[in-house]
Amino acid sequence: MEKLHFTYQDIHRTAQSIAERVKASDFSPDIIVAIGSGGFIPARILRTFLGKPILAVGVSYYDEHDQPTELPHTVQWIEEAERKLAGKRILLVDEVDDSRTTLEYCIRELLRHRPAEIAVAVLHDKLKEKRGVIPTEVKHYFAGERIEDRWVCYPWDATDIDEHDAARLAESAVPAR
Ligand code: G4P
Ligand code: MG
Repeated sequence: MEKLHFTYQDIHRTAQSIAERVKASDFSPDIIVAIGSGGFIPARILRTFLGKPILAVGVSYYDEHDQPTELPHTVQWIEEAERKLAGKRILLVDEVDDSRTTLEYCIRELLRHRPAEIAVAVLHDKLKEKRGVIPTEVKHYFAGERIEDRWVCYPWDATDIDEHDAARLAESAVPAR
């Protein structure tokens, strides 16, 4: 699959634009919940603009023997989540909305903790057929950018950040980007 690179600079700007839209909306979060690990850095940048505390949750498609599982399951779920999330307005953050499976799973888990509201923010929403659905309880969905169905390369996955940024530059020379 064709790749699409984003630099830390890109990510920061995209997170800022999401934060501006959150502030302009009628949704005001009490707490940011990051879906690890892709959501960690976007959530941290959003905190710069929104100034709210972050809780992190982990979701995995692999079992304890590193064998793939069909459905995601929780790992490192928030301790005392019930107490911390009950009645709160949650901004759930991930890096990418791909198949939507993880996102749906997380939203449904969080809904069990009786929050006042859940809104979703992702840096990138891939324009493709989704396997998961955003539950109707979610009234606000903030997508930083809507992108074609490509493999996104994030800077935090780069083992050579200069090469990563060079790949981004090469892509921006192509008119499609
Ligand atoms: P979704 O609900 O957010 O759409 O996620 P989905 O279950 O479809 O995705 C499974 C995993 O694949 C997720 O990682 C997601 O972040 C990752 N993924 C999907 N598309 C891309 C992409 O274009 N680029 C990159 N880098 N990752 C992608 P995960 O299992 O949560 O792991 P982690 O990397 O977040 O730790
Ligand atoms: Mg992820």
